[in-house]
Amino acid sequence: MNAPDYHIPGSAAVAPAADAGPDEMASARTVNEVLAQSQVESVLDELERDLVGLAPIKQRIRDIAALLVIDKLRINLGLAAEAPSLHMCFTGNPGTGKTTVALRMAEILHRLGYVRKGHLVAVTRDDLVGQYIGHTAPKTREVLKKAMGGVLFIDEAYYLYRPENERDYGQEAIEILLQVMENQRDDLVVILAGYKDRMDTFFKSNPGLSSRIAHHLDFPDYAVDELSQIAQRMLTQQHYHFGDGAEDVFRDYLERRIGQPHFANARSVRNALDRARLRQASRLFSERDRVLDKADLTTLVPADLLASRVFQNPSS
Ligand SMILES: Nc1ncnc2c1ncn2[C@@H]1O[C@H](COP(=O)(O)OP(=O)(O)O)[C@@H](O)[C@H]1O
Ligand SMILES: [Mg+2]
Repeated sequence: MNAPDYHIPGSAAVAPAADAGPDEMASARTVNEVLAQSQVESVLDELERDLVGLAPIKQRIRDIAALLVIDKLRINLGLAAEAPSLHMCFTGNPGTGKTTVALRMAEILHRLGYVRKGHLVAVTRDDLVGQYIGHTAPKTREVLKKAMGGVLFIDEAYYLYRPENERDYGQEAIEILLQVMENQRDDLVVILAGYKDRMDTFFKSNPGLSSRIAHHLDFPDYAVDELSQIAQRMLTQQHYHFGDGAEDVFRDYLERRIGQPHFANARSVRNALDRARLRQASRLFSERDRVLDKADLTTLVPADLLASRVFQNPSS
C-alpha cells in the first residue's frame, strides 16, 4: 500500500460524528433532522473553509451530499429500492486536491451511513496486480478486504489496462473490481483518479467500468493567486510565515514555476516551502552563537526562496 503522502488540512478540527443510531436516523423526516443527526454539514463547512478555490468541486460535493440526504428521507418513507451507485471518478493534474477531497468524501459517506467505517485505502496498479500468473486475484481481494466499509481510491487507475500487452494481469484486477463495484456497492465506494485525457481513453476501452461510475469530478489547475493562498495556509499550519518581501518573491517563484515541466499545483507549493524551510534552517545553523528568538525561527526571508533553481536559471 502506498505511504500516504497527503495531509488533511484542518482534519484535527473535524468534530466526531454523532452516534445517531440507525433507529434515530430512520425517524428523520426533514433535511434538517438528517443534517443534525449525521453532522455531515460540519464536513461540508470544513471543505469550504480549509480548501482554497475549487468552487466547482465544492458545489458538486454539496450536490452529492444533497442527493444522499434526500435518499435517506426516501428510504425512511420506504421509497428507495436499492443502494445508489456512488462510485466516482476524480480527474485532474497532480496536486489539484483529488486525494484530499476523497478523504472528505469518505467522511461524508460515513456520516450519512453509506459506508460502515469511512476510511480511505489509496492504491495504485502495483498494489492490485501481481507479476505472475495466479498472483493478481489474491492481491486484489486483499486490498478490497481492507477497503470494505470505506473508500478504495485507485490512483492513476488507467494503468490497470495495458492494451499493448495481450495477457496483462491488469484485466483480471479490473474484472474483480467490476464484480465488487456491482455486488458490494452498499459497503464499498471506489474512486478512480488520474489525468483526464488518460481516464477518458481508459473508459472508452472499459465501458463496463465507465458505466458504473455515478459521478465524474474534474479538478481544475490552481491559479497563481490560489497557490499563493495555499502557501499561506500551509505556512500557518506549520507555524511559519513569510517575512518582509518574501510573499512577493514567492509569487514571482510561482509565476516562473507554473509554466515549467512537472509543475504539480499545490504539491509543488508544499515541496517549495519544504525546501525554503531547509534553507532557513541552514541559514540559522551557521550563526552558532546567536540567540534565536521566535521570529527568527518562524520567518522565511526572501533569500530562503531566491536560492531556488527557478531563479538561477529562469530559462530551464
Ligand atoms: N485547495 C487546496 N487548499 C489547500 N491545500 C490544498 C488544496 N489542494 C491541495 N492541497 C494540498 O496540496 C497537497 C496535494 O494535494 P492532493 O490532494 O494530494 O492532490 P492530488 O491527489 O490531486 O495529487 C496536499 O498537501 C493538500 O493538502
Ligand atoms: Mg493524490
